[in-house]
Amino acid sequence: MSRFLALLALGVVGDAAVLDWTTAYAKASSALASLTVEEKVGIVTGIGWTKGPCVGNTSPVPKIGLPSLCLQDGPLGIRFAQGITAFPAGIHAGATWDKDLVYQRGVALGEESKALGIHIQLGPVGGALGKIPEGGRIWEGFTNDPYMSGQMMQQTIKGMQSAGVQACAKHPIGNEQEKNRETISSNMDDRTLHELYMWPFADSVLADVASMMCSYNKVNGTWACENDKLMNLLLKDDLDFKGFIMSDWNAQHSSVQAAITGLDMSMPGTDYNGGSIFWGPTLVELVKNGTVPSTRLDDMVKRIIGGWYKLQQDTNYPTVTFNSWTGGTGGPNVQGSHSQIARQVARDGIVLLKNDNKILPLKPNGGSIAVIGSDAVTNPDGLNACKDKGCNNGTLTMGWGSGSVELPYLIDPLTGIRNRVSGSATNVITSTTDDKNAAAGAAAAAATPIVFVNSNSGEAYITVEGNAGDRINLDPYHDGNGLVGAVAAAAAGKPVIVVIHSVGPMLLESILSHPNVQAVVWAGLPGQESGSSLADVLFGDISPSGKLPFTIGKSRADYGDVGIENSLVDSYEEGLYIDYKHFDKMGITPRYEFGYGLSYTSFQYSALSVQPATSMPVGLYDTIAVVTCTITNVGPVAGAEAAQLYLSLPPSAPDSPVQQLRGFDKVKLAPGQAGTATFILRKKDASYWDVARQQWIIPPGEYRFVVGASSRDRKLAGGFVV
Ligand code: BGC
Repeated sequence: MSRFLALLALGVVGDAAVLDWTTAYAKASSALASLTVEEKVGIVTGIGWTKGPCVGNTSPVPKIGLPSLCLQDGPLGIRFAQGITAFPAGIHAGATWDKDLVYQRGVALGEESKALGIHIQLGPVGGALGKIPEGGRIWEGFTNDPYMSGQMMQQTIKGMQSAGVQACAKHPIGNEQEKNRETISSNMDDRTLHELYMWPFADSVLADVASMMCSYNKVNGTWACENDKLMNLLLKDDLDFKGFIMSDWNAQHSSVQAAITGLDMSMPGTDYNGGSIFWGPTLVELVKNGTVPSTRLDDMVKRIIGGWYKLQQDTNYPTVTFNSWTGGTGGPNVQGSHSQIARQVARDGIVLLKNDNKILPLKPNGGSIAVIGSDAVTNPDGLNACKDKGCNNGTLTMGWGSGSVELPYLIDPLTGIRNRVSGSATNVITSTTDDKNAAAGAAAAAATPIVFVNSNSGEAYITVEGNAGDRINLDPYHDGNGLVGAVAAAAAGKPVIVVIHSVGPMLLESILSHPNVQAVVWAGLPGQESGSSLADVLFGDISPSGKLPFTIGKSRADYGDVGIENSLVDSYEEGLYIDYKHFDKMGITPRYEFGYGLSYTSFQYSALSVQPATSMPVGLYDTIAVVTCTITNVGPVAGAEAAQLYLSLPPSAPDSPVQQLRGFDKVKLAPGQAGTATFILRKKDASYWDVARQQWIIPPGEYRFVVGASSRDRKLAGGFVV
C-alpha cells in the first residue's frame, strides 16, 4: 500500500474540510431553532422545474446564511454547463479497477462542482446495479458486482466530498430498467436486497455520503420514495445514514406517506409543468394541523442543512452564476488540469480483449492504417448536436440522458490516431460512415484496417433508433457486425483491428468469426479524451490495463432469465445469480469473463500469504483476514495488473454463489519489478444475510479463495478457517 493509500485509509487525505456528523448536526440544530415552519418547508421542497439555475433548487433562508441550494447532475461531469470536463463514464472508470484513480476522478468532479457553486452533485450511481445487460442506465454506475460498486462508490464519494461538494448516491434501489420505470415494482427477496442491491449504498454510507436519491420504481410493491422499509429502516436505521434522501425528479407520489416514511427533500418540487406540489404549502398545512409531526420536518431540515454544514459550505462557498436553461453559460471555466485525469481514466479503462500474433501495439513507422466507421469521428452534425446526447451519430463517448454532459471538446479516435502518427511516414486512410462499400475500399487500400463499432443506451425520456432507453439487443448499432464483415472480407490476408465503444456487454461472436480480426479493443465510454487515450494504447505508449467490469457471454441466453420486464412486476427470480455468479452456477463458459483483460506485458503471481484475524472482529466492517501476494512483471514493458480475490463461503452457508469478488488491487510495475497486492477482507465480506435472524452471519468452517487475473484466470488458491 502506498503512503497515499495508507493515509486515505486512515481518512487523513482530503477530508480535512469535512466535519463529522455530530459537529454538523449541532450547527444544524442551533440554526433550526430560529426557523419558521414556512422556512423549513422551503428547505425541503424544490422551487420547481427550471425555476432556478440548477436542475434542483431550494428556497434560501438568508437569516441563517443559507442560500438556495443548487443540485446538479451528474455522475460523469456537470450537466448543462460550459467549461467543464466530460470525464469517462462510471462503467469506464470501473474498468480501470484502480481505486486511487477513481478517487482522483472524484476529486476532480467535486472541484468542478464547487467552483460552479453547486452544493450537491447528483452522483455517483450504485443503482441501476446492472443486473439486466440491456438496462438503459447501466453505464452510469461502475459495474454490476456489488462489492466492486461499493468500493468505487466509496472512492468517488470521498474524492468529491474532499473537494467540498456533497455527493448523492443514487438511486436506491431496483431501477434496473427504463421501461415502465415509474410504475414497475422490483420485488426482491430480503437476502438479495441486502447482498446485492443495498450493498453499494451501505458502502456509500461508510464513505459518509451527504445525500441519496430514492428511485422511480416501487420496491416490493411500494414506491421507493415512500417506502418505510427502504428509507427509514434500511438506510436510516440499519445503515445509520445521517444525510438526507431526495426524491428522484418527480418520483414522489404522496405528501404524508412520503414524509413519514423518510423522504427528506422533494425534487424538483413541482411536476415538469409546474403543477402537483406534494409538499410546499401542503406540507406547511400538514405540519400545522399535526398530520405530519413537526419533529419529522425538523429531522428533514437537520439532515439537509447538516450536509451543508458538514461540507463547510456555509463559509466562502462560490455562488452559482451558470444557468442550466440558457445553454449552461455564465459560469467560470472550471476544467483546471482535469483533462489529464480524464485521459488517464480513459486510457486505463480500455480493455484489450484479443491480440493474436501480438499485432498490437502498432508501430507508427510507415505503412498505412485505415480508420473505418462512423464511430471513429465526431458527430458530423456537431459536437453536442443532440440534447442530452440523445442520438447515436459519430463516436460514442457516453450514453444519453441526465447522466450526460456537453462535451467541451472531443479528441475523437481519428484525431487521436492522426495526432499520434503525425510526423511519421504512416498514411491514414479514412472511411468515416458506416457504408460497407466505402469501408471495404478503405480496408483494401490499407495495410492495417481499424474498424469502429458501438452500442448505446440511456434514459427513458429519449428514444434513439428504436431503443427507448433500454437496448433492444446486445448487437452493435448500424449493423456493426456487417461493417466488420465487409472490412474483414476486403482485408483478406491482412489483420483487422476492431474497436468497440459500448455502454455495457455486447455480443462479439459475429465479429470474432472472421479469422483476420486479430485484435479487439474495448474502448468503453471514454469521454472527451477518447482518441488520445485510444492512441496511447494502440501505439503502445502505455500497456492496456483495464479489465471487464461485467461478463461478455457468447449468446444472450447465456445471461439467463434477466431481461427487460414487460409487466409491472419484476420478481427478481434470479436472486443473487446475476452476471458471473450466474455463469458460474450454470457452468457456462463466457466469451470474455468478468475481470478479464490483456496486457502488452505479463505477470507472475507468487508468495500468497493469509493472515486471519486472531479473534472474531466485532464490527461488520472490521478486518477478518488480510491476504497478500507478490506480482512480478515478467514481460518486456511497464504495465499494471488488477489482481482480484474471489471468496467462496464454507459449505455451512445456505445456497450461495460459487465465488464472489471480495478484493482487488491494481499494482503498477516496471519490467522485472515485483510488487505486493493486498486484499483486506471485512467481516461483512465473509458473511451472508440471514433472513430469519435479520443479521449478517459468518458461516463457520473453511473459507476458500482464489487470487487471479480474472474471475476465471486463477493463479493462487488459499483458505482460512473462521
Ligand atoms: C434522473 C436522475 C437525475 C434527475 C435530475 C432524473 O430523470 O433519474 O438521475 O439526477 O433526473 O436531472
